[in-house]
Amino acid sequence: MRKRIIRIGIFVVAVGAALFLLIQIIPIGSQRTNPPVVAEPKWDSPQTRALAKRTCFDCHSNEIEWPWYSYIAPVSWLLANDVLNARAVFNFSDWHAGDMTSAAMAAQINSGKMPLPQYRLMHPTARFTDAEKQQLTTGLTATLASETVRPPSTPPATDGASLLEARCTDCHSLDRVKQAKKTRDQWAQNVTRMVGKGAQLNAVEQSTVIDYLSKTYGL
Ligand code: HEC
Ligand code: HEC
Repeated sequence: MRKRIIRIGIFVVAVGAALFLLIQIIPIGSQRTNPPVVAEPKWDSPQTRALAKRTCFDCHSNEIEWPWYSYIAPVSWLLANDVLNARAVFNFSDWHAGDMTSAAMAAQINSGKMPLPQYRLMHPTARFTDAEKQQLTTGLTATLASETVRPPSTPPATDGASLLEARCTDCHSLDRVKQAKKTRDQWAQNVTRMVGKGAQLNAVEQSTVIDYLSKTYGL
């Protein structure tokens, strides 16, 4: 009986060890990447950057110092996944104005959610004092306050077809337009009339649309 239990025990340990070795060849998480640094925020001071580097860069940057255990499955999978998600939220090495607000960062820091608790456990240097928390959140606010956030740029419509699509569909569908056939003069009258109703077209755009309409739906 005793021997049998020992034999089963050895078997379980052997299978466990074999599985552990086997998963090492599974390539998930083998992307311990550090792509080139493209652009960082305009740091308000070297101190802010240093604090962020100490506490955020190991996930939210392309300057990750991958620890030795990041080479061992299944920990490697978890870490690679964290970094993937963290970089997707924002990446200090690939920064575009408006990627993340300093208010959201401060909230994460002050609530103790960031840096991730399991990371703080393994990285004593990433733990901060209250004074350092205060310093980082103030620094991040100053850093990101200088950013002018550009609204997502929609290229201005300049050709007749896009102008029609953009400015003539507020009140009726384009079917209204496509069903009509008019001479150039009639289209000019129509467009003037539509502008009178509220279509938003400046003089240049009006003549572009009239050109397009009389070419496409002309008589
Ligand atoms: C150990 C890795 C790690 C570190 C270090 C880390 N983060 Fe994160 N962070 C993550 C991950 C992973 C996510 C994405 C969480 C998710 O997918 O919900 C995230 C998300 C965030 C978000 C978005 C949260 C949300 O729910 O919208 C903010 C803001 C953030 N981190 C700020 C920071 C700041 C500031 C630091 C440094 C003080 C930092 N993080 C350090 C891994 C990390
Ligand atoms: C502010 C609302 C509005 C916008 C914007 C608008 N329309 Fe109209 N359109 C109307 C209304 C209302 C009618 C139906 C009543 C009428 O014909 O006066 C109409 C009718 C039409 C008709 C059918 C009547 C006719 O004269 O043949 C055409 C064609 C037309 N619109 C073309 C256009 C074009 C081209 C544009 C963009 C340059 C445009 N509309 C933008 C309100 C609008």
